[in-house]
Amino acid sequence: MAPLIGNKKIKTAVFISGTGSNLKNLVLFSKKKLSPISIDLIVSNNPKSKGLVYAKKFKIEKKVFNFKKRVFDEKRLLKTLKDRKINVICLAGYMRILSKNFIKIFKGKILNIHPSLLPKYKGLNTHKRVLENKEKYTGCTVHFVSSKLDSGKIIIQKRIKIKKKDTPKRIAKRVLMEEHKLYPKAILKIFNL
Ligand code: GAR
Repeated sequence: MAPLIGNKKIKTAVFISGTGSNLKNLVLFSKKKLSPISIDLIVSNNPKSKGLVYAKKFKIEKKVFNFKKRVFDEKRLLKTLKDRKINVICLAGYMRILSKNFIKIFKGKILNIHPSLLPKYKGLNTHKRVLENKEKYTGCTVHFVSSKLDSGKIIIQKRIKIKKKDTPKRIAKRVLMEEHKLYPKAILKIFNL
């Protein structure tokens, strides 16, 4: 990613669909002096996303595009991002697949966090599948987004050990705690900080 110029932070949008714990964590990180990014926009495809509360809490603009009118909403989303001079997009539990056109426009500037050790366990229900396959380890990955699902270049990963009494819920909780440390690390890494 291009180096930082002066003290200006890189304008970033976070895309969510659900709880938004990664969003909250990224906002807190962005407020630190060492953070190269500022969070200037929150985007959701789901008006009921719990994470949208952080828009009000942290006074960040929010936009909901439900993509019922796919082409129209993509145009509106692209215009919104352009108008706000958004340079980086962090997907944080955003459960909608972005179009090839969208990914092309923001090539190399969209990051995603995924709750598995990619390339293993792409897609949904990762923790259930990890347990069914009796894996010894799982974890989380931050990667650049490419047009293939959960397949872009890996930036950073964190591995955690599966315990005997683990359930998908328990693993999800431990992985999420690691995600909150990993996403800021990934951002520092792509800016060589
Ligand atoms: C996180 O565990 C994230 O890795 C996962 O959704 C959760 C969102 O939690 N993302 C995916 O599964 C994407 N394929 P949050 O809303 O509390 O940040």
